Amino acid sequence: MYIRKLIALAILSYATQASALNLDILLNGILTKPEVRKLVTSAQTLMTANISPAGTLPGTVIASPSQSMPDYYYMWIRDAALTMEVVTDRPTLLNYADLSLKQQQGPAIAGLGEPKFNVDGTDFTGPWGRPQNDGPALRAVTAIKLANALIAEGQMSYVQTKLYDGRLPSQSLIKNDLEYVAAHWRDANVDLWEESTGQHFYTLMAQRNALLLGSTLANQLNDTQAAAYYSEQAQNIEDTLPEFWDDSRGYILTVLDQTNGPNHDSGLDVSVILAALHSTQGEQTFGVTDDRILATAYNIQQAFAGLYAINQQSEFQNLGTAIGRYPEDQYNGTASTASTLANPWFLATAAYAELFYRASGEFKLAGEIEISDLNKPFFESLHSLNGATLNVGDIYRAGDAMFTEIVNGLVTDGDRFIARVRFHANGDSLSEQYDRDNGFEQGAHDLTWSYASLITALNARPQ
Ligand code: NOJ
Repeated sequence: MYIRKLIALAILSYATQASALNLDILLNGILTKPEVRKLVTSAQTLMTANISPAGTLPGTVIASPSQSMPDYYYMWIRDAALTMEVVTDRPTLLNYADLSLKQQQGPAIAGLGEPKFNVDGTDFTGPWGRPQNDGPALRAVTAIKLANALIAEGQMSYVQTKLYDGRLPSQSLIKNDLEYVAAHWRDANVDLWEESTGQHFYTLMAQRNALLLGSTLANQLNDTQAAAYYSEQAQNIEDTLPEFWDDSRGYILTVLDQTNGPNHDSGLDVSVILAALHSTQGEQTFGVTDDRILATAYNIQQAFAGLYAINQQSEFQNLGTAIGRYPEDQYNGTASTASTLANPWFLATAAYAELFYRASGEFKLAGEIEISDLNKPFFESLHSLNGATLNVGDIYRAGDAMFTEIVNGLVTDGDRFIARVRFHANGDSLSEQYDRDNGFEQGAHDLTWSYASLITALNARPQ
């Protein structure tokens, strides 16, 4: 142990990130319950600082306080919705809903598919990748969660005026978004990374999720025709999702029919993992234990393991693989040109922790794991298996030693991804990216979505 410590210290002083905290993470990636609580609390504090900061309208979620290189001082619909999903403070949620309704009613260039707004509530009118149709779907889901909580408390009047009025044309936040999603999911649009135009697995998954949740809400509020329409469109989306599966490559492609934007030749993209994580409905297809998701996760992880120098230092074997957006990515956090190289992202790395945690929980619940051609490499790569080979067709059940190895191994490997996040963080602060070579934070500092992703990951950790 002492020698390992000395070696680790020597490496760390080179890496210049030497601190007692980083050394602990390096030597022991496994999280304790008090550590989980501490991390969540601190991420919540830092995330909350980016909600309605002074000088912005109440309910505004800035993507980051950074106002130049890059300028992220705007409210992105996607980032805001994913952030508000983990906010529990009621007045903050109501401010967000009121502001979102105002944004919907403005004359935005892309209508409801408008990706971002100024912090004074006015439209952003500069050139941008439009429309981004994951936004209305994610916003609807966050607002439906709020509506469900209000309904449970009997607060129907706010719900039926501001959130879901059941009228056409609608004057309410959720119904506006659902109508838009139901009518426009076939449209080519710009992806969540704001770069490529085409059909996106992530966007379609978010849209299906919103329509399924929306259908249940519509039924509850006696808008039965709309409920049927939403679930029919959700089913239509579900029928197109298998087109993203590339049988010869053995993983899910992020984009189809791409007409412009950066090279996506590998088809690999962490957005596919985010798609599984951000969908709570229809989990039987493309959920976190779906073989196709696990096969894709394995392939993405392999690609980044080979791509980033910080993934190749054997001394850091306790840290999970640093994960970026997609292998061909050139956006380095401030610029995107042929001469720049992208880096791993905190939210992408935290997503892997969440995937592993949630998969562990779901397999435990199911009580059974069947090894298939598709999931075999994923399971065999777990550290807890120590290089053991698994046989296709084998079924492990609760009580079997291998079942326990796998469900526990998913949690400890999930912890390794969290350790990776913590190791590269600047204290508790999380930026957007961390440098692929030296490990330092890169790009927008205090990225709101980085905090939200760490919180959802830790909340998903089986206790
Ligand atoms: C760029 C990211 O690719 C996009 O997903 C995000 O919405 C914005 N930055 C703001 O954080």
